[in-house]
Amino acid sequence: MADKDALRAAVFKAVEDYCAADFGYSFDPKNPIVRLHEPTFSAGEINAALECLLSTYVTMGPKVKKFEEVFASSFGWTDGVMNNSGSSANLLAVAALANPATEDGLRPGDEVIVPALSWSTTVWPIIQCGLKPVIVDIDPATFNIDPNEIEKAIGPKTRAVMIVPVYGNPCAMDAIVEICKRRNLILIEDCCEALGAYYDGKAVGKFGRVGTFSFYFSHHLTTLEGGITVTDDFELAELMRILRAHGWVREVKDRDRWLKKYPEFDPKFLFVNVGYNLRPMELSGAMGLVQLPKLAEFVDTRRTNSAWFRREFAQYGDFFDFQEEQPKGRHSWFGFPMRVKANAGFTVTELTRALNANHVETRPIIAGNIARQPALKLYDHRVVGDMKHSNAVMDGAFSFGNHQDVDSGARAYVAEQVRAFLRSRSLI
Ligand SMILES: Cc1ncc(COP(=O)(O)O)c(C=O)c1O
Repeated sequence: MADKDALRAAVFKAVEDYCAADFGYSFDPKNPIVRLHEPTFSAGEINAALECLLSTYVTMGPKVKKFEEVFASSFGWTDGVMNNSGSSANLLAVAALANPATEDGLRPGDEVIVPALSWSTTVWPIIQCGLKPVIVDIDPATFNIDPNEIEKAIGPKTRAVMIVPVYGNPCAMDAIVEICKRRNLILIEDCCEALGAYYDGKAVGKFGRVGTFSFYFSHHLTTLEGGITVTDDFELAELMRILRAHGWVREVKDRDRWLKKYPEFDPKFLFVNVGYNLRPMELSGAMGLVQLPKLAEFVDTRRTNSAWFRREFAQYGDFFDFQEEQPKGRHSWFGFPMRVKANAGFTVTELTRALNANHVETRPIIAGNIARQPALKLYDHRVVGDMKHSNAVMDGAFSFGNHQDVDSGARAYVAEQVRAFLRSRSLI
């Protein structure tokens, strides 16, 4: 029989050789392509996942637990609850807060204020948990929820605010935290596109009762699919561990409490709440452990590129507005967004068509003004204000890739394509 260890070593070596030969992106001027994202993983992550497959330990286990611990402690939370997507993280966070077991939580019909410029699954969990979204406009400079609009929207049933640091631009946290304290509102931070962002030296997601992150393939780091909820509230974390897995107590940290309370049950099959199955795979935890140490360098590259694009495009202020980083914020630049001004002399569609034809991929900003999406028509919600700024982003803004592999060649190429378009319109 073949030596198992030698075979494993050969498999891992083959993956390393394959990745060295045929993995990774670098800009090629002869075949220029700038995609919205490139894989953040390589041989190390693939082998970590393979290790799980070869061992046949594929469902949530010690690697997920380790990843939760390392992730939470790297940014300063006491608890992290990994799950299978950022959307699941949002669902878990809202479901735990709206659960009858959370005494000071949310109750059916309570209102949750959200920014119009959101992702769909920022808002859907609010509806799915029997709560009512109240949609407010953004600050045009940051693309983030405007604290003044939060104040205007607060009504007798308002109990929470769910914010989104758009593209990794930290929100106006001093003002938002102050409003939440003064009005006794629960703060939830959907940081699914803001990994690596800080406000006043503190990681985003650390200002509210619970924060969420996504590790989807195109994000700052990936576990293929994946997400995590983070909190310093042990009881909420325990409840999220229960809701994540069937309403079971199997994964809680303090199992004894439940076993003492219900000694007549088989401890392996004790269901204490109504739950879901939002568990991540062990492969995702293993990949996350290899990915996490890469974050700081990836974010540095994104920040360097964004500063370069801002300098490069400063001369085109007649045509474009940009997303502004705030003095206390450290933006992690999920992509590079630009808004075409209403009087620019061209539309965002005309510009993005030209960029796409020249192999610069583009996309709209998150889901645009979520209040305009057809899904909302089916459910009770409130829209406060005219949504002028969210509409301007939905109708006039786009972004292109600003990921870890965008180098000086790719940057210069994108800038040249924007210039070529402006020249083609005789605007410069
Ligand atoms: C703000 C925001 N929330 C939630 C999500 C959902 O994350 P996932 O794709 O991992 O479900 C995303 C996805 O990009 C997002 O941008």
